[in-house]
Amino acid sequence: MKKGLFITFEGLEGCGKTTQAKMLFDFLIKQKIPSIYTKEPGGTKIGDKIRKILLDQKNDGMDYKSEMLLFLASRAENVRLIILPALEEGKVVISDRFYDSTTAYQGYGRGIDLKIIKHLNNLVVGKAIPDLTFILDIDPYEGLRRSASFGNSHEMRFEEEFLNKKIIEGKLFLERVRHGYYQLSREETGRIKIIDANRNKEDIFEEIVKIVNKKVSHIY
Ligand code: TYD
Repeated sequence: MKKGLFITFEGLEGCGKTTQAKMLFDFLIKQKIPSIYTKEPGGTKIGDKIRKILLDQKNDGMDYKSEMLLFLASRAENVRLIILPALEEGKVVISDRFYDSTTAYQGYGRGIDLKIIKHLNNLVVGKAIPDLTFILDIDPYEGLRRSASFGNSHEMRFEEEFLNKKIIEGKLFLERVRHGYYQLSREETGRIKIIDANRNKEDIFEEIVKIVNKKVSHIY
């Protein structure tokens, strides 16, 4: 039985979601609310190996279906080993990306059938359905500009593809991903909150904390 609270952060590269997810984690820990932070792809031993394959620039040209299945495989490990056990212990789980990324990137971005993605996502996550999701919304180019300046040079397959190689297709791809996120937020207005990420991190955090506090006060 799921007892904790599951919060996910989503958005395009460079939107600042990792910063916000970690700020929220630190904030909750300071309030003595038991919480964990995890990220996708990765977060487990097998997940970290999958992450390396996915983000390695040498794997340029990977089949989109392989890519999708690897993201899902990483998620299956994360759900089983990290997310569900923590929720069962009543913790707040903060995940930096989760299944909406697959819908937005592989579905709306790459064009894989959304119905298939929905089935596979449901199969993989089971009861681990987020209670609250923040999509940090940013212009694709502004985000890429930011992420290129602080990214890990070994893990830039996606940024490389979007920014350097096929600049027009890259931009269009990210526009489709952004549109996918908007679409998801319209379908699930209760769970998904779009946050304007074009502000300073303190203002963004203040908005996020207000929303989280409402949920947390029901549980803890
Ligand atoms: P990462 O280096 O973790 O970047 P970020 O800080 O943006 O999360 O790279 C993850 C990349 O993988 C990012 O471009 C989004 C992409 N992605 C998908 O395409 N599908 C997915 O299901 C997930 C979880 C991520």
